[in-house]
Amino acid sequence: MNILITGVSGFIGRTLATALSAAGHQIKPVCRSEGVDFKQMLSVEHWLPRLKDVDAVINCVGIIGERGTQRFAVLHTQAPSALFHACAQAGVRRVLQISALGADESAFSAYHLSKRSADDCLRSLDLDWFVLRPSLIYGPGGKSAELFMRLATLPWIPVIGDGQQALQPVHISDVVLTVMKSLTSPEAKQTLDIVGPDTIAFAEWLQTMRAAHGLSRTRIAHIPLWIAMAAAYVGRYFNPMLQPENLRMLQRGYWADFTPLARFLGRLPHTATAALFFSQSEPTRRAS
Ligand SMILES: NC(=O)c1ccc[n+]([C@@H]2O[C@H](COP(=O)([O-])OP(=O)(O)OC[C@H]3O[C@@H](n4cnc5c(N)ncnc54)[C@H](OP(=O)(O)O)[C@@H]3O)[C@@H](O)[C@H]2O)c1
Repeated sequence: MNILITGVSGFIGRTLATALSAAGHQIKPVCRSEGVDFKQMLSVEHWLPRLKDVDAVINCVGIIGERGTQRFAVLHTQAPSALFHACAQAGVRRVLQISALGADESAFSAYHLSKRSADDCLRSLDLDWFVLRPSLIYGPGGKSAELFMRLATLPWIPVIGDGQQALQPVHISDVVLTVMKSLTSPEAKQTLDIVGPDTIAFAEWLQTMRAAHGLSRTRIAHIPLWIAMAAAYVGRYFNPMLQPENLRMLQRGYWADFTPLARFLGRLPHTATAALFFSQSEPTRRAS
């Protein structure tokens, strides 16, 4: 297949491009270093020339915080919606949208709401679409995974409040397999949550990451929510991930029923093991 991947320089896009190339597909890369800025791709006409001879589109563009001219409405909603309409016009039927867990009816953050608007646009079109909503993804190269890894290796692990926020992190190889299956599955027009099989508290997740580094368990520093929010308010100027809204999303947790994903994949998603933190590929022995 000729597959146009947007966000191909990012964690998910890059990993998908590598896996899909290895599987014999041709990749048409889209990102700013390839000369395509989503801020200038806001109409169907902007996209049509790029869709010639394309069999499938995977949209992996996203930001975790707004900065300068990088705005949620433009990057998460307007440009992808124009792309999806262009696909409908050009006859590119297979369209995969990498959304995010929580971009549903319970969404409250600008991040999730802007993702959901694009998801709704895609779902409204007569295409063979998949809206894929990953939980926190772990594996080498992910920005959030690397931030959590750094926190996990501190002498004391800082968590918000009691640190009991419920997470179902998912390994990047499960995201890759879901995308691979979505490219050819006859069961299109699906919204799938991509979550791991185990629910784990945030503090315990960081201890697990710490163990993956060969470090023993350490003490937890419980930071009251209001102090964490104040720190994020200042910290967002230094790291776009440190947004007060991102802390509120973490407070809500990242969990969902994993059985629809397991049914779609024909196997359980992976349980976290130390080796998986440093590998992008499927383990040879499955922990299911
Ligand atoms: N990683 C996770 O744990 C996770 C979990 C759930 C959902 N997601 C969602 O999945 C998507 C991809 O995540 P990721 O971890 O791969 O993010 P990432 O590593 O930060 O990559 C983001 C991609 O978006 C592109 N991009 C940003 N601004 C752009 C612009 N103005 N024009 C064109 N491209 C632009 C970047 O390309 P440039 O080289 O041009 O900057 C990069 O390729 C995001 O929407 C994210 O919200 C991620």
